[in-house]
Amino acid sequence: MNHFLDINQLSTADVEGLLQRAFEFKKRGQFPDYSSHALANLFYENSTRTRISFELAARRLGITVVNLDLESSSVSKGESIEDTIKTLSAMAINLFVIRHTQEGLQESLAQQLQGRPAHIINAGDGKHAHPTQAMLDLMTIAEKKKDFKQLKIAVVGNLRHSRVANSLQSICKLMGVGELMLVAPEIWQPDELQYGRLTESLREGLDGADVVMCLRVQRERLGKKEHMDLSTYHHFFTLTEERLALAKPDAIVMHPGPINRGVEIESEVADGPQSVILEQVHNGVFMRMAIIESLIQHQA
Ligand code: CP
Repeated sequence: MNHFLDINQLSTADVEGLLQRAFEFKKRGQFPDYSSHALANLFYENSTRTRISFELAARRLGITVVNLDLESSSVSKGESIEDTIKTLSAMAINLFVIRHTQEGLQESLAQQLQGRPAHIINAGDGKHAHPTQAMLDLMTIAEKKKDFKQLKIAVVGNLRHSRVANSLQSICKLMGVGELMLVAPEIWQPDELQYGRLTESLREGLDGADVVMCLRVQRERLGKKEHMDLSTYHHFFTLTEERLALAKPDAIVMHPGPINRGVEIESEVADGPQSVILEQVHNGVFMRMAIIESLIQHQA
């Protein structure tokens, strides 16, 4: 694997290999040294978890990390992302973690950089994909639940604008998750599905679920006619303790973050005994270490 762009580029063996390596990193606490490498975080869209997680993951592997500050960099003078990458590449940076609003940008950059010693990692492209999030989500599910094929996973929220939901569908399809229920109000339902079944009924979605994932209401991505009154959303879709009781008693509760408390999920559920939200964040560092290593080893 030369770049990490989309779950759809991976085989089940790739995913299983990354899971195994991420669990090894988590268990061992001792890491290989890749100090001859350098990584740039290029975040053209805001982030807390993904950016810092990649920085920590790289540092634990001995990798030099630079964070491009858009306001103080030459991006503010109009430099294109292609020229920014070529410039950083000339300084021997070989790993580029990119988040951008433009869908497919990382893929086209990867094509343009063919032949150069540069690996692109997609840290989120618009509404399209967030593959490293799907990998850390799968790691967290694998840690808590035994057999993907026996699982019912319910995903609740704004599916139409969610790159997390897209990448989760891809990984559930690849790993043969038994049942994926996608719960959303009609206005936030996607035109196309890769995997799973759509419903507007939270009750149907949550009934007997092993995993419940709430999605952020991505207000910044809503078009003029896509807004929904949040009190209506709260009335029908917010995950409360009472609604969570529809799922299995040992169901886990997930959220990619950042959370809008009281909108997607009530605080007593987000902070409750079934929540694994902070474990997702914790696992993200180990999974990103595994992803970075797999790219470096491709080069070796
Ligand atoms: N889950 C996620 O991508 O969070 P950030 O936007 O904080 O990186």
